Amino acid sequence: MSKDRYWRAISIDSISPDCFPSVALYLRSGGNYVLYKDPERMFTVADYSRLERNFTEFLYVRSGDMEILNEFMENGLTEMLARDDLSSAVKGKILYQTSVNCVIDMFESPDTAANLLRCRNMVQHMLQHVATDSHALESIQAVVDNNFYIFAHAVQVTALSLLFHEMIFDLAPDEMIDVGVGSLLHDYGMIFITGEILEKNDALSDIEYYKVKQHTQKGYEYLKQSGNYGEIVLNIVRYHHERYDGNGYPTGLKGDDIPRSGQVAAICDVYSALIMDRAHRKANSHEDAIKIMREEAEKGAFNPELFNHFVEIVNLKRPL
Ligand SMILES: [Fe+2]
Ligand SMILES: [Fe+2]
Repeated sequence: MSKDRYWRAISIDSISPDCFPSVALYLRSGGNYVLYKDPERMFTVADYSRLERNFTEFLYVRSGDMEILNEFMENGLTEMLARDDLSSAVKGKILYQTSVNCVIDMFESPDTAANLLRCRNMVQHMLQHVATDSHALESIQAVVDNNFYIFAHAVQVTALSLLFHEMIFDLAPDEMIDVGVGSLLHDYGMIFITGEILEKNDALSDIEYYKVKQHTQKGYEYLKQSGNYGEIVLNIVRYHHERYDGNGYPTGLKGDDIPRSGQVAAICDVYSALIMDRAHRKANSHEDAIKIMREEAEKGAFNPELFNHFVEIVNLKRPL
């Protein structure tokens, strides 16, 4: 990766004056990072309006300051989500950003007990949010900085997958946490794919595509040997690119031989990929995404029953 790895993008929507610790914020200008506010100065409503007027979507934090920021945001999450004066959209955006920050650390070090604990707490918060907030999907359509696509996508898939399981199945609390952790880590195996391939804007060659496809099995093998993850987590990581008709990867399992959590993850994964901006194309609207997926479903990509449930759920919990 480039020097960008020293910088973390923070969506300005997730910075609220009293929900932000004293760390420096930077603006990206051309290829450079310019100090926007020093640690001591408060981030004010006027800052927000000014940035919004200039169409600035992100400010940047030095990765070395992320520990302070994460601790501050994660510790304040329960209180923040309970506040009456914040709209559900603002809450969702802060939760989304905090989850993205957490998932970045998880990808760097998925075997650290502290990260695993943070990740479980985060899933708990997300579950609570998606289960109780009727506009829960509003915030997951947030704009993301392209360098952080994979992490933002992980959080989207998690929100969708938790919502789906919560509404359709009756899982034990521990199993729900595992659905969340598995979804956050579903593309973990991407760390084994070279940046060159991942950052490529053109179509992939056959060999490159073959390599990308290995992220499922490689992620699964790595997380399995770490011994920290149970079956649900591992199933999501391994099977989220299987297709119901057996034409998926890595195993080509078919129908209900594919573990159910993997079938749900596959649906959420495709939807998330379609509704997000990518370097090479603009995001699809919700309607277009569903249309594309319906065509795929007719060709046998998804479990039809689960797909129909999914469409009902996203239609219900989507902003008007
Ligand atoms: Fe994947
Ligand atoms: Fe994915």
